[in-house]
Amino acid sequence: TTWIVFFVVGAYLGGSISSAILLCKAFGYPDPRTKGSENPGATNVLRVAGKPIASLVLVFDVLKGALPCYLAFIMGLSEFAIGLIAIAACIGHMYPIFFAFKGGKAVATALGAMLPMGWPLALALVCTWLLSYRVTRYSSVAALITVGLAPIYTYIYKAQFTLAVSMLSLLIVVKHRSNLIRLIKGQELKQTRLQQPHA
Ligand code: G3P
Repeated sequence: TTWIVFFVVGAYLGGSISSAILLCKAFGYPDPRTKGSENPGATNVLRVAGKPIASLVLVFDVLKGALPCYLAFIMGLSEFAIGLIAIAACIGHMYPIFFAFKGGKAVATALGAMLPMGWPLALALVCTWLLSYRVTRYSSVAALITVGLAPIYTYIYKAQFTLAVSMLSLLIVVKHRSNLIRLIKGQELKQTRLQQPHA
């Protein structure tokens, strides 16, 4: 139990490190919370700072989910514990203690957290996201379709994680409220790079 608490707290704190905010700042780009969708995630960093920084954000945010869950897996923690740790990492990203509890939507972090549950599951999720994005051209729609299917994939492939993954999906859908409103109004943002004042 001590290990579980340690990992849950560690995953939450790691998740709280917003790579989107820190990397944009480090490379002299505007704060992603002030531009585009105002979301500190890879999607919005792509609009604000372009591909290289957005890729770094994506990798970093995937790792925030993957590292604690892999470590817990290696240390032989229970599947229930791994589910909790996965949720803790995503809650850290969504409600970061270091950034006034205003974080991102945890799509990348959730993917990372699910990697230790099995690569076929992760592959199915990545393919679903890519295909949905190809068809719709909206990152948010791709995420919503993917998290909608994630509990079903999990039930088929790793049924023991269905509850944890359903919780992750629910949290991610709740975090996409503003996207849902924009989609209904026909005002959802595409991935166009925003104008750079100093470019
Ligand atoms: O991963 C976040 C994505 O689903 C939506 O991002 O910036 O369009 O709100 P954004």
